[in-house]
Amino acid sequence: MSEKWLEGRVIENRHWTEPLFSLRVEAPRLGFEAGQFVRIAIEERIARPFSFVNPPEDPVLEFYGIVVPQGPLSPKLALLGTGDRLLVASNPAGFLVLSELPDAETLWLVSTGTGIAPFLSILRTATPWRRFANVVLVHAVRHARELAYRDLIAEIGDAHRGSFQYITFVSREAAPGSLAGRIPAAMQDGRLEQAAGLKLDQRSHVMLCGNPQMLKDAAAALAARGLRKHRRRAPGHITVESFW
Ligand SMILES: Cc1cc2nc3c(=O)[nH]c(=O)nc-3n(C[C@H](O)[C@H](O)[C@H](O)COP(=O)(O)OP(=O)(O)OC[C@H]3O[C@@H](n4cnc5c(N)ncnc54)[C@H](O)[C@@H]3O)c2cc1C
Ligand SMILES: NC(=O)c1ccc[n+]([C@@H]2O[C@H](COP(=O)([O-])OP(=O)(O)OC[C@H]3O[C@@H](n4cnc5c(N)ncnc54)[C@H](OP(=O)(O)O)[C@@H]3O)[C@@H](O)[C@H]2O)c1
Repeated sequence: MSEKWLEGRVIENRHWTEPLFSLRVEAPRLGFEAGQFVRIAIEERIARPFSFVNPPEDPVLEFYGIVVPQGPLSPKLALLGTGDRLLVASNPAGFLVLSELPDAETLWLVSTGTGIAPFLSILRTATPWRRFANVVLVHAVRHARELAYRDLIAEIGDAHRGSFQYITFVSREAAPGSLAGRIPAAMQDGRLEQAAGLKLDQRSHVMLCGNPQMLKDAAAALAARGLRKHRRRAPGHITVESFW
């Protein structure tokens, strides 16, 4: 069956750094759950999945991207301007959603790069605050200037003081206020738990999104702590979404 495309219009293309951009798009209303993605395109034959940054009830769609040099789509998306057309598929999908998760005490939302996108949508819904006593957003980037959406995250922190924490990693320069190195190593040596003041144990559920190698390395570090992949038929503690 051929994909059904909806026509959207770009209302803003914000550039955070040279390669990082956020597209805000007016498009026909789409039903989705926070954490899901949808395929977007400029021409139908070059379409890619992008996670929604906006919560489902927001009428403006938002996508957070990075220019992959030589990539067929992302450099073109970065060049879109106000009024330009963006095609949005009519069928959002994905399992990185809270409705798939078992109950837990602490929800860890762990991302690299643009992998933070689905978590920003989730954090702007009521569900995480209703279901989990603690919510920890972890974001790892190469350089401190790539820690996008800090104002939005500060607003979330203000609204959920006492139950929300934001922990950042900057891997390729010294950055005050951020942890150094990579997420899996900090899971292994206890630095992540120390920064959060929370245990990364079987009372946790960890959602991982972004670089596929980070997903593998983090899942291995978590397995060493007795956490296992979550499946509908065999509930566990780890849910992943790989961006490539
Ligand atoms: C379920 C899902 C959700 C996704 N959501 C997003 C999103 O919200 N934002 C987003 O920027 N991308 C997202 N992606 C990746 C996106 O679909 C594209 O792959 C990306 O925009 C690059 O497109 P491209 O055509 O330029 O290059 P592609 O041919 O698609 O990719 C080329 C290479 O670029 C690298 N790469 C791809 N995506 C990224 C990335 N996000 N960060 C760093 N390196 C990357 C990989 O090495 C990949 O092999 C998602 C992918 C999946 C599967
Ligand atoms: N970020 C930039 O400055 C920049 C600029 C221009 C273009 N790009 C393009 O964007 C793409 C990369 O995007 P990105 O920087 O958002 O993604 P990325 O390479 O996945 O890096 C994001 C974060 O993930 C970490 N990471 C990588 N592999 C990991 C692993 N196995 N385990 C744990 N952590 C891991 C990185 O640490 P390490 O630093 O230790 O790898 C970094 O902190 C490339 O195609 C690149 O060419 C990036």
